[in-house]
Amino acid sequence: MNKWQELYAKKLLTAGQLSRKFNSNDRCVSNGQVVEPVEILKSLAERANMGQVEGIEYHILAPQKHQPYLDPGMSKKIHLNALFVSRPTIDLVWDGYADYLPSFYGEIPKNVPERGDIDVFVTSVSTMDRHGYFSFGAAADLSALHREAKRVFLEVNSTMPRVHGNCFIHISEVDFLCESKTPISEKYYGELTEIDCRIGEIVAREIPDGACLQLGFGQMPNAIVRALMDKKDLGIHSEMFTDGMMDLIEAGVVNNSRKSIHVGKSIASFTNGSRNLYDFLDDNPGIEFHPINYTNDPMIIGRNDNVRSINSCIEVDLFSQVCSESIGPKTFSGVGGQVDFVRGAKLSKGGKSIIAMKSTAKNGEISKIKAVLTKGAVVTTSRNDVDNIITEYGIASLRGKTCSERAKELISIAHPKFREQLEKEARGINIISKNGR
Ligand code: COA
Repeated sequence: MNKWQELYAKKLLTAGQLSRKFNSNDRCVSNGQVVEPVEILKSLAERANMGQVEGIEYHILAPQKHQPYLDPGMSKKIHLNALFVSRPTIDLVWDGYADYLPSFYGEIPKNVPERGDIDVFVTSVSTMDRHGYFSFGAAADLSALHREAKRVFLEVNSTMPRVHGNCFIHISEVDFLCESKTPISEKYYGELTEIDCRIGEIVAREIPDGACLQLGFGQMPNAIVRALMDKKDLGIHSEMFTDGMMDLIEAGVVNNSRKSIHVGKSIASFTNGSRNLYDFLDDNPGIEFHPINYTNDPMIIGRNDNVRSINSCIEVDLFSQVCSESIGPKTFSGVGGQVDFVRGAKLSKGGKSIIAMKSTAKNGEISKIKAVLTKGAVVTTSRNDVDNIITEYGIASLRGKTCSERAKELISIAHPKFREQLEKEARGINIISKNGR
């Protein structure tokens, strides 16, 4: 046993023992989603159920499904203040059993400490190497906060990839740890539709050889990746690393050769995908994960030329305000890094940001382009930041355009069956100029 292995053995507990190191009213933070320390949280929920601990505040980007602490009855004992809202938490937030902390993703490491001291940083990591280091693995996003926490607890997961980058923590920085063999969660998307593929092709026209990509999540990025297979010398500087990005690297389309920073490397902060992807990331020196305050800093993003930031949204109005995080007043998602990358793309020489979406939702019954946003909808990307909107009907390029010009461009990419009504509504509220311009 070397010195670090001895230290490891001294700090090693079972998940149950480790859960007893939490105190009532602790403020706790975890990295990402895939790396949620599920065994520790299960044991903590058991203690809370037995009345041994209460008033714990827990921050994570997106919890995994079926976590016992997500039971509404637990919310006074372990209260989730989510940093993003996702399927397991939409109803919990809407019903008032959890809350959401609005923040640009890149600014979360600055905003969470505004609430007061962080008592515990707790996250899953890869197994320890011979030098005493654990990789944060599938998510390095909030890892900068481990240095601000009073106590650091780790769940060492043998299925976690050892991802490179500014993505490591040393055993000497850890208070206690436990081990887990529970396979980390995987995410798969359904088949691409004809509309997805059409949107992918239109987006691909806006991506020149040598561009530096950020792709958001959902089905859209997969359609875009499919349309990029004949491009050359693409780079990646993104928040999320996806299965599609792996495909682009393996196809030789991404080589990061034309980047200005991190030449030859793909940069991201977290991943959520297939087991195949996690194996690809394991010990791969071509990919680096960094804390989110670095990857999502618009000044850093803008240092690469020809940035192409591609994200999606729920709806957009004729004032060109983009809502990506709520359906009416119901929080459905979060701002994530959308605005960080929209702004980073603006700072990049030759950069462009794109919001790509289907023209309709709910089997074609609803237009995603509206005269005004649905009552209660949250503006994610403001009209002052928005650049290009793409649907299966084309592209609306909005930078430098007036309100009237924007409204007309947006109507031209709405589904044809909604265009006449949209124009009538636009004229009704005088968005479109009366003098024909
Ligand atoms: N009105 C009502 N419902 C709508 C709607 C609208 N205008 N637009 C979408 N929906 C519904 C869909 O019908 C679908 O419902 P279902 O799950 O019951 O089928 C649901 O909302 C999700 O729509 P979909 O288009 O499949 O979403 P997606 O998985 O592609 O994600 C966002 C789209 C906007 C939610 C997602 O991109 C997001 O959260 N963005 C914000 C964060 C971000 O951009 N981060 C940066 C990159 S990581």
